[in-house]
Amino acid sequence: MTARVLNGKELATKIRGELKTKVEELNEKDIFPALAVVIVGNDAASRVYVNAKKRACSEIGILSYEYALDEDTTEQDLIELIHKLNNDHKISGILVQLPLPKHINEDKIINSIDIKKDVDGFHPVNVGKLMIGNPQFLPCTPAGVMELILESGIDISGKECVVVGRSNIVGKPMAILLLSKNGTVTICHSKTENIEEKIKSADILIAAVGKPEFIKGSSIKKGAVVIDVGVNRLEDKKLVGDVEFESASKVASAITPVPGGVGPMTIAMLMKNTVKAAVMQKEGNMS
Ligand code: GUN
Repeated sequence: MTARVLNGKELATKIRGELKTKVEELNEKDIFPALAVVIVGNDAASRVYVNAKKRACSEIGILSYEYALDEDTTEQDLIELIHKLNNDHKISGILVQLPLPKHINEDKIINSIDIKKDVDGFHPVNVGKLMIGNPQFLPCTPAGVMELILESGIDISGKECVVVGRSNIVGKPMAILLLSKNGTVTICHSKTENIEEKIKSADILIAAVGKPEFIKGSSIKKGAVVIDVGVNRLEDKKLVGDVEFESASKVASAITPVPGGVGPMTIAMLMKNTVKAAVMQKEGNMS
């Protein structure tokens, strides 16, 4: 058996096309979605992601403003910039690319973003809203995974869903979203005992550990749906996920590739959140 490859790139292109049409309609009504992208320091991976996000904005017709700050920018200066962006009516969404340099407290920065402009969905208020089933902005990577699963006609209800990884950005919100669709959810992490057994029990397996090819085909249940959130660059520059694609695709019924799986969906969801933010702000429609 060879798994069906879940093409995130294709679905993301379709979503971006729909958003482009929507932005044209909004422009007619004098609504101009705009994303402020803040990057601090010289992290090479962050630069690649920020460029991809700006490119997506420009394709869709979303305005984007980059704020590239020096590595030694103070926490206070960054908070002041965010306050300025919070109060700038031209700006619909604010994205502060993570990770930040060590001397800056990420939680403080996230807390300083206006919840109505928090298009990453990282602010504790937005995390809380997601938790109680009343989300305002879904965090982009888990939201992208859900769209890919649901658009592929995969049923989550009652299924054993195993999330490997417990980050605030991916693992935890991913588990909540799967639960909201009636999955039976287990979160595994570095301290989990019998992790192999837990992974093997998954009907839907989400790998978000950040370890190249950590999960092999022999660990996966026959017919499982495998979603690979990992993006790991090997020494030879090759990009691989957290799952060993070749062996896993012989066991799984469906699998996402790296690249071309979850990554493009994350960016599409950021664009969707930015458009949503612009509409909400215009309508004064905030709960
Ligand atoms: N760094 C890695 N993933 C993300 C993301 O989704 N948003 C932001 N702001 N930074 C990230």
